[in-house]
Amino acid sequence: MKGLIFDLDGVLVDTAKYHYLAWREIAQELGIPFNEEDNERLKGVSRMRSFEIILEIGGRQMEEAEKERYCAKKNERYLTYIKKMPKSEILPGVRPFLESARRAGYKIALGSASKNSRLILERLELTDCFDAVIDGTKVSKAKPDPEVFLKGAQELGLAPADCVVFEDSQAGLEAARAGGMRAVGIGSPERLPQAEVCLPGFEGVTAEEVETLLARA
Ligand code: BG6
Ligand code: MG
Repeated sequence: MKGLIFDLDGVLVDTAKYHYLAWREIAQELGIPFNEEDNERLKGVSRMRSFEIILEIGGRQMEEAEKERYCAKKNERYLTYIKKMPKSEILPGVRPFLESARRAGYKIALGSASKNSRLILERLELTDCFDAVIDGTKVSKAKPDPEVFLKGAQELGLAPADCVVFEDSQAGLEAARAGGMRAVGIGSPERLPQAEVCLPGFEGVTAEEVETLLARA
């Protein structure tokens, strides 16, 4: 294991709840029932694909231009939450994990579908922790396609098999496996059956310990 590739939303920072709140407002406006269980399907997937899933749930269809308008509206709402987000919303143990992994010689990349990744890393003062940032502005295929992680490995100058992906979404874990990488789920094994190893989070864990767990998996 030479490279660590991290998803952003729900792995490094608790933004998954803000995505949910913003989408729920849009769904309510359209009269589409949408709960936390439905929201699991949206995790890790692009903004447009997320909206299309909501439309599917409601059995609705919409012109491309109107879909774009709703996506822009969702992002405006999401950004109002993000702008108020305190730095303390970095998930527990994340910064020490990143810093100790760096010191131990691992290369570190971000692999996120979010077009807001740079903004969020800046706000949390995490930008300097990364050797490469691949986000929604750099990929054309949404997770579960492995493009985002393959580009991450490439920018780190590493083979996919030497990289481990940390993900809280089913789509993201499928993407990691499809790309030939090791897959660590952040969350429960019941919710993330695609993961080789699951961690509740990064508190009290080191990259070396993750490597040991993967070797046994
Ligand atoms: C992923 C989130 O990280 O980014 C999804 O899990 C989100 O919920 C996607 O839809 C796109 O994010 P953004 O910030 O570009 O709308
Ligand atoms: Mg995520």
